[in-house]
Amino acid sequence: MQATKPSADAYARRALARLIQPQPTVDAVGAGLTFYQLFTEDDAALRAEAEAGLLAPAASISPKFFYDALGSRLFEAITDLPEYYPTRTEAAIFSLHAAEIALRVGRGATLIDLGAGNCEKAARLFRTLAPSRYVAIDISADFLRDTLRGLARQHPQLPMVGIGADLCAPLVLPDAVGDGRRVWFYPGSSLGNFTPEEAGAFLSRLHEASAPGDSVLIGIDLIKDAQRLEAAYDDPLGVTAAFNLNVLRNLNRLLGANFDVRDWRHVALYRAEAHRVEMHLEARRDVTVRWGKHARAFAAGERMHTENSVKYDLPSLQAMFADAGFEDLHAWTDVSGDFAVCHASVGR
Ligand code: AVJ
Repeated sequence: MQATKPSADAYARRALARLIQPQPTVDAVGAGLTFYQLFTEDDAALRAEAEAGLLAPAASISPKFFYDALGSRLFEAITDLPEYYPTRTEAAIFSLHAAEIALRVGRGATLIDLGAGNCEKAARLFRTLAPSRYVAIDISADFLRDTLRGLARQHPQLPMVGIGADLCAPLVLPDAVGDGRRVWFYPGSSLGNFTPEEAGAFLSRLHEASAPGDSVLIGIDLIKDAQRLEAAYDDPLGVTAAFNLNVLRNLNRLLGANFDVRDWRHVALYRAEAHRVEMHLEARRDVTVRWGKHARAFAAGERMHTENSVKYDLPSLQAMFADAGFEDLHAWTDVSGDFAVCHASVGR
């Protein structure tokens, strides 16, 4: 029953073979938009990953499965909650330090947005950073395509490339990305979904994919008291609970499973020793979930781990960027020290 994992190379080759021809948007004005989808909605690799997580002794679901079209909208709603400080704090840092950030990042680069979502964070930087091209990558491909259609209309002079892809897989960039100087943009503390080891490996992969002069611009949440962290991930309106529970609807679609959302409860807790917020889904009663020829039984109270959101301090960020080979790290924070925006470069 052991599924063999394809090698990274094989995965990249298959992803390339599946590359759907660029589809210039019909309504794009000026320089326009090309869109690539590196996987189909029910990609076998994604299904195998979801299945392995559900069948593991301690069941887990990767946070990448949050982001179907509804999940992407629910995340947008989270960013409007008063308790969820990261998005607005990061935006404040970008506007407060715009001039200095622009000086460090430099104008005219290819801005590559990793996990672009609704592209709002990048779009707010267009004026400051004046990129020569905008490349947006997200696993929520349909959501991204719709967003980019609108954005391309608002910025007809800026060439845009959209890529529907899983960032956990090897990065395969189509030729349309060009070979101009690259700024890898990874805002919103998305890096926190990785364990520190995985985050380090991800940064190393970015470093390997870079040329001298390229750089990373990364927003990351900082360690703070447990109360504020838990409030940010368990809001009284229940938006985060809906976001967490929606993963079950996405798995029902992806696998043909029979999760009943009403059987599960949202749990968020901060593990201070690991500097991370964890989200889980806890069975409200004994539940057996079925899909295909598989079944998984859960006892009442049993939890599935759905997300880590790791928080950092500045010294550990410094070490992580240096270990990945980046130089000249600069970090900007808000006055309360809640969140950091980091820029680091690939040496010449
Ligand atoms: C998009 C991964 C940064 O961890 O804060 C928000 C996702 N989860 N509320 C985060 C999330 C619950 C978010 N990231």
